[in-house]
Amino acid sequence: MELEFKELTKKYGENLALDGFTTTLENGVYGLLGPNGAGKSTLMNLITDNIKRTSGSILYNGKDILELGAKFRQKLGYMPQQQGIYGNMTAKEFLMYMSSVKGVKRSDAKKHIEQLLEIVNLSDVAGKKLAEFSGGMKQRVMLAQAVMNEPEVIILDEPTAGLDPKERIRMRDFIKELSENKIVLLATHVVSDIEKISKEILLMKKGSLVQKGTPENLIKNVWQKSDKSKTIEQMDLEDVYMFYLDDNEN
Ligand SMILES: Nc1ncnc2c1ncn2[C@@H]1O[C@H](COP(=O)(O)OP(=O)(O)OP(=O)(O)O)[C@@H](O)[C@H]1O
Ligand SMILES: [Mg+2]
Repeated sequence: MELEFKELTKKYGENLALDGFTTTLENGVYGLLGPNGAGKSTLMNLITDNIKRTSGSILYNGKDILELGAKFRQKLGYMPQQQGIYGNMTAKEFLMYMSSVKGVKRSDAKKHIEQLLEIVNLSDVAGKKLAEFSGGMKQRVMLAQAVMNEPEVIILDEPTAGLDPKERIRMRDFIKELSENKIVLLATHVVSDIEKISKEILLMKKGSLVQKGTPENLIKNVWQKSDKSKTIEQMDLEDVYMFYLDDNEN
């Protein structure tokens, strides 16, 4: 599987939010890092067709996703950064509702939802209304919804925001597990979330892709350019982030 971006550009009025973004993603987890306003959510909203691109293309296995339409959307799982609240539904009702939106058969959905609730550790509160959920519990329901229907492309916009350390590790392991034979694009501000599970890291700044590579290679490159006050073993992705993305203009 292959998701290819060619000169993808998005302008909001005069604001250039995405600027000629070009790269190709294959199976595995891709960690998307960048400061506030870098264009991460904009990129994701273009993949999910929630907003219209200004120019460029997004190809799934060689075909533009706009041409594929519903065929592509059926293969897509998405967890948005801003959570729509369906406060009156219980967790189970919400997941049943989302599975019907995705066209899953009711009998299949029921079994799958039990499993998903188990994985995100919400079986005990499956009958509780979402309005009564904590922020982290809502996050976990949204993650369950995103991976329902076994999508081939999974877009997660800050999936671990608001999770406590234990749930964060649980989610990280779960995402790693489900990424086999899937393309997972995961935006986060928590570098440690993706350092361990990413095949590659994408660094974005001001709408452009600044660097892309395995965590090891990115660290090595930055270490070589550094003053070597740290050994290479002492360096991590935080150092890479600071080297490429930290400046005073953000
Ligand atoms: N609906 C919108 N209307 C106008 N401008 C927008 C809209 N959404 C995003 N922008 C602008 O586009 C740029 C990129 O925003 P985006 O939300 O993609 O950043 P981000 O990398 O997801 O940031 P964060 O880390 O804060 O989530 C910013 O300058 C932002 O102000
Ligand atoms: Mg965002």
